[in-house]
Amino acid sequence: MRPSSITLRPARSEAERQRYHALRETCIFDLYHRADGPYPCRYDPGHPDEDDPANHPLVLMAGDTVVGTIRIDMKPDGRAVFRLIAVDPAWRGAGLGAALLRQAEAYAEKHGASSLCVNARQPAMGFYARSGFIPCAWDGNSQCAEAIAMVKPLRKLPMAARRARQPARLVQAA
Ligand SMILES: CC(C)(COP(=O)(O)OP(=O)(O)OC[C@H]1O[C@@H](n2cnc3c(N)ncnc32)[C@H](O)[C@@H]1OP(=O)(O)O)[C@@H](O)C(=O)NCCC(=O)NCCS
Repeated sequence: MRPSSITLRPARSEAERQRYHALRETCIFDLYHRADGPYPCRYDPGHPDEDDPANHPLVLMAGDTVVGTIRIDMKPDGRAVFRLIAVDPAWRGAGLGAALLRQAEAYAEKHGASSLCVNARQPAMGFYARSGFIPCAWDGNSQCAEAIAMVKPLRKLPMAARRARQPARLVQAA
């Protein structure tokens, strides 16, 4: 059943922070970076990117339960990079992932974003496409062969800014 209150916000307690890391590790790393898979990588909760003030680790709350995660990395040129998006398996298929993307978009816009970028995994590509992301290379997108760079522009830039930006930042994938 869909909970009545769904909020995306920073973790407020050590328990919520632990749940944030546990969901990222089990839903993303155990799935896409297994030790016996093609892209082995251990999850590191102490990674320095987590403490970068430009990066915003957030939890999706259903009432007082942490049901999802995202980190939004704000770039100086107006891009917001969505990282490690996950919904607890027990809560999937009820629209919470879409709600997470909607609230993350609003959060990023509030922080000045003009476009959203994500490294989508093949199985989740349709999920992002339903929310308006299109396959498109972006500065710093993952070089991992399994990841598909996707972008969602949020507003039309003035023509001069678009000309200056387009070749370097948003390059339509071949
Ligand atoms: C991808 C994920 C976040 C989706 O969460 P969710 O709560 O099940 O998503 P929702 O129920 O809000 O689905 C929203 C829409 O996307 C669709 N969708 C969900 N997962 C999808 C998928 N894997 N492929 C295609 N479409 C998908 C739903 O059918 C729904 O479409 P609709 O609006 O037409 O009904 C969740 O499956 C997950 O955590 N997966 C594991 C981690 C992962 O792969 N993260 C992405 C890494 S890039």
